[in-house]
Amino acid sequence: MDDGTIVVPRLIERKRDGGALAPAEWRALIAAYVADRVPDYQMAALAMAVVFRGLSEEELVALTAAMRTSGDQFHLEDLRVAGIGPMARVDKHSIGGVGDKTSLLLAPMLACLGVAVPMISGRGLGHTGGTLDKLEAIPGFNTRLSLAAARRQLERIGVVMVGQTPELVPADRKLYALRDVTGTVESIPLIAASIMSKKLAESLTGLVLDIKTGSGAFIQDPAQSLVLGQTMIGLGEASGCRTIALCTAMDRPLGSACGNALEVREAIAGLRGGGPADLMEVTFALGADMLVAAGITADRAVARGAVEGVIRSGAALDRFRLMVEAQGGDPRAVDDPERLPRAPVSRPVTTASAGVVVAVPPRPIGHAIVSLGGGRMQADQAVDWSVGVELSCVPGQRVAAGDRLATVHARTEADAASAVAAIGRAIIIGERAAPLALISHRITREGIDVLT
Ligand code: URA
Repeated sequence: MDDGTIVVPRLIERKRDGGALAPAEWRALIAAYVADRVPDYQMAALAMAVVFRGLSEEELVALTAAMRTSGDQFHLEDLRVAGIGPMARVDKHSIGGVGDKTSLLLAPMLACLGVAVPMISGRGLGHTGGTLDKLEAIPGFNTRLSLAAARRQLERIGVVMVGQTPELVPADRKLYALRDVTGTVESIPLIAASIMSKKLAESLTGLVLDIKTGSGAFIQDPAQSLVLGQTMIGLGEASGCRTIALCTAMDRPLGSACGNALEVREAIAGLRGGGPADLMEVTFALGADMLVAAGITADRAVARGAVEGVIRSGAALDRFRLMVEAQGGDPRAVDDPERLPRAPVSRPVTTASAGVVVAVPPRPIGHAIVSLGGGRMQADQAVDWSVGVELSCVPGQRVAAGDRLATVHARTEADAASAVAAIGRAIIIGERAAPLALISHRITREGIDVLT
C-alpha cells in the first residue's frame, strides 16, 4: 500500500533489516490497517519482522498509542460511583492460564473497598481459559454490554465485568487474530502493546498484571517474564497509570477446578472464604497490590488486611451477587451452585503407581477441556460450560496406587474416557517434585523484588 505517507513494503524491509519506524509511520500504518487499506499479508510480514527484530522504546510507545486510539475509549475520568467521586479505577490482567479464576473474586472484592473496577476481559484462547466464558456459565449473565451500559452499572455498584466491544481497540482485535494464525504471538513487544493498548483504553488509574510463568503460560522462561513485566510497567507508568506486576506460577493449574462452571463454583467458595490455599494466596496478593495501585494505601500489609476483610465479612460475596443480578444473571446460582450447569458424566483419573506427584501440567489439561467442549478450536465455536476437570492432587503430594488424581466431567462416556486417558498420561508420578514458587517476583517502577 502507498497512501502518500507510508509505503508498507519499505517499512517491512526496514524492520526486517533492524531499523526503526518513526511514531508517525506507526500511526499511519495502524490507521490504514484498521481501515482495511493494508492487507493482512503485509501486516503479518511486519509482525514477523518485529518477532525477530523487536521494537525500540519509542516504537513500542508509538505502536501502543496508535492501537489504543484506533477506536473508542472507555472514558471514565469523571466517574462517580453512587454519587461519590471521581475515584480510582483499577483493573487486573492475567497473561492467561488454566484454572485462573482470580478475576471473579477480585472485581467484587475491590469494589467493596472504594475503588471502581471497570474490568474488560477476554475469552478462552488455545489451552487457556477466559473470564467471559466463566461468567457466562452463570445462567443469564450478559457480558456484552455497551460502554454506556457498562458505565451506568459502574456508577451504581462500582464494578462491571464485560467483553471488549467491537469499537474498543479494533487494531488489537484485528492484529491479534492475525498473530494467532501466523506464529507471531510470542513476541514481548507485541504482547505488551496488545495488552496495554486495551487496558489503557479503559482510562485506568491503576493496573495489576499477573504474569503467568512456566510450562502452561505463553511465556515459559522466567527471565522473559520479568522483561515482559518491566515492558508493560514502562508503558503503563508513561501513561499515568500506576502499574504493578506479580509473576505467578503456571507450571500447574491454579486451584483445583478447571473448566467454566466448575471454576465459578470454586470462585464462589473462595468468596465464602473456603477457596483452595493457592487460589486465595494469589488472589489476596493481587488484591493487595490493586489497592496499592489505586493509591488507597502504600502499605501492603494494610492492603492485605483490607482485602482479606471483605471476604471474611461477606461483603465481596454480596457485591458479586449484586453484579450477577445487574448483568442479567440468576443471583440464586450464587447461593445454590447446583443451579450452575453440571455435566452428566463424571469419571475418576487414578494412579497405577505409588510415589510423589511430580507434575500436573496445565497445557494437556487445558487441551483436554477444549476436547471435552469447554474451550474453542475456532473463534466462533460455542462452549459447553459444564465440562472440565477437578484436580485432587498437587505437585509434591505423596500418593498410593489407586488414589484419585482428578475427576473428569464430560458430556458422554466416550469423551470422558479419552480425557481420563489424556490426563492420566499428563500427570507424572515419580520421586521428587520441584514446582515453581507460587509468587516469585513483584515488579514495580522502582525495580524487581524477589519474593521467594
Ligand atoms: N493476551 C493479549 O491480549 N495479547 C497478547 O498478545 C497475548 C495475550
